[in-house]
Amino acid sequence: MTVEEATTLVPVGHPVTFVAQVSDLHIIDPHDNEPLFVPNNERLSKAVAGIASEDPTIHAVLATGDLTNWGRVGQYDALDDLLATLQTPFLPIPGNHDDRDSIRARFPDLPWADAAHASWEVTVNNHVRIIGLDSTNPGESGALFDSEREAWLSDILARTPAAGVQTVLALHHPPFLSEIHWMDRTGFLNLHRLVAVLEGSGISRIFCGHLHRPVQSVVAGIPAQVGLSTVWHVALGLEDKAKIRLINDPAGYQIHRFDGPNSVSHTRYINTTEEPFRPDWAAEYGEDDG
Ligand SMILES: [Fe+2]
Ligand SMILES: [Fe+2]
Repeated sequence: MTVEEATTLVPVGHPVTFVAQVSDLHIIDPHDNEPLFVPNNERLSKAVAGIASEDPTIHAVLATGDLTNWGRVGQYDALDDLLATLQTPFLPIPGNHDDRDSIRARFPDLPWADAAHASWEVTVNNHVRIIGLDSTNPGESGALFDSEREAWLSDILARTPAAGVQTVLALHHPPFLSEIHWMDRTGFLNLHRLVAVLEGSGISRIFCGHLHRPVQSVVAGIPAQVGLSTVWHVALGLEDKAKIRLINDPAGYQIHRFDGPNSVSHTRYINTTEEPFRPDWAAEYGEDDG
């Protein structure tokens, strides 16, 4: 048995689907001259260009909230402009910096829930069912899982997906504590009820935003991760009284590759100047130096 055969978990022929994830874009209205820590709009422009040039082609772009800085009309206008060249379906969910009704209006083709919350369910490439759950609590920074959303999500999860389709959940607020205390203190109301719905649900992955740094956890036995922001990041502070500190860490986006029932996630940085180089030992792997 070759190494390739030994490490192939699924038979050849399963569908392969690529989903890029951008998060916490915090787009501003360029007419406002709003002072910023990093160039937010320019960073999304780089991310869009990067996603468009990925090989293999990305099937869909998931945006896990905080699309704009303050949920203003001019900021959604700027977002429209920045996405104008994107040929890939864009799947946004609201964050606490957004206006959920504006997002619904800007992306009318998404199958929005017939409810107050701006949630949707989309199956990408007839293979990856993404449940985009609106976790926002309008007027608050923290999250809310109310009875309406509990009924909506339970109803979706009660329907068995078609054979070969895997289900993932996307929401802005992570359904776990990061232990960066100033980020956690905004809270997640009724989190225990969400976790109860997720138990045994068959969801394979959970993708979030909000924390502005890459963080991984496990929720109801499901791997959960926060994607990089395209803008600034939160400085790591795990001490009890960690102060609010932001950092210009490498920003970027995630590429989630789904292969049959499996998946793997990678990070693409957009604000580095480092160029890849070829090590000498590449020749030992049969690579020429072209
Ligand atoms: Fe954010
Ligand atoms: Fe947020």
